Amino acid sequence: MPTLRINGDAHAVDAPADKPLLWVLRDDLRLTGTKYGCGRALCGACTVHVDGQPARACVLPCGTLENRDITTVEGIGASEIGRRVQAAWVEMNVPQCGYCQSGQVMAAAALLERIPHPSDRDIDQAMSGNLCRCGMYTRIRAAIHRVAGDL
Ligand code: FES
Ligand code: FES
Repeated sequence: MPTLRINGDAHAVDAPADKPLLWVLRDDLRLTGTKYGCGRALCGACTVHVDGQPARACVLPCGTLENRDITTVEGIGASEIGRRVQAAWVEMNVPQCGYCQSGQVMAAAALLERIPHPSDRDIDQAMSGNLCRCGMYTRIRAAIHRVAGDL
C-alpha cells in the first residue's frame, strides 16, 4: 500500500504497486482532472508533475512514487506560475473541447518554471508530446507567451 504525496497531502493508497498513477488519481482519489487518452505515453493527456517535472501518469507505477512530490491540475494553481498559466488559458480562451487541456496546462507550467521566457522553438519542443485533436496549438503558444510577458 504506497503512500503518495499529491498536491501537498499524503494519501495511503490501497492499490497494487504496479497500478498506474493515472488510475490511482482518477479511480481511488477522484482527482479526475487528469485525463486518459492513449494509455501509452503518446498523447500527454495524463500529464502531471513528479518533483516538478512533467510525467505521463498513465505509465507510472504508483509503487515507484513514494517520497516524490506529485502535482496534478487540481494543485497546480497553488504555484505562482501555475496560477498565471490557468488565468492565461481563460483569458486567451485556449480550450475547444478541453479534453487535452489539463495536460497542456501542466506541460506549460513545467516549461515556464524551467524557461521563464521561452522562444517559439522552446514552446514547440516542450509541448510537442501533448496532442490536441482540436488543434488549439496557436492559442496554446499565445497563452504561454502571455504568461512569459508577465514574468
Ligand atoms: S494517456 Fe498518458 S500519454 Fe496518453
Ligand atoms: S481542446 Fe480538444 S483535444 Fe485539445
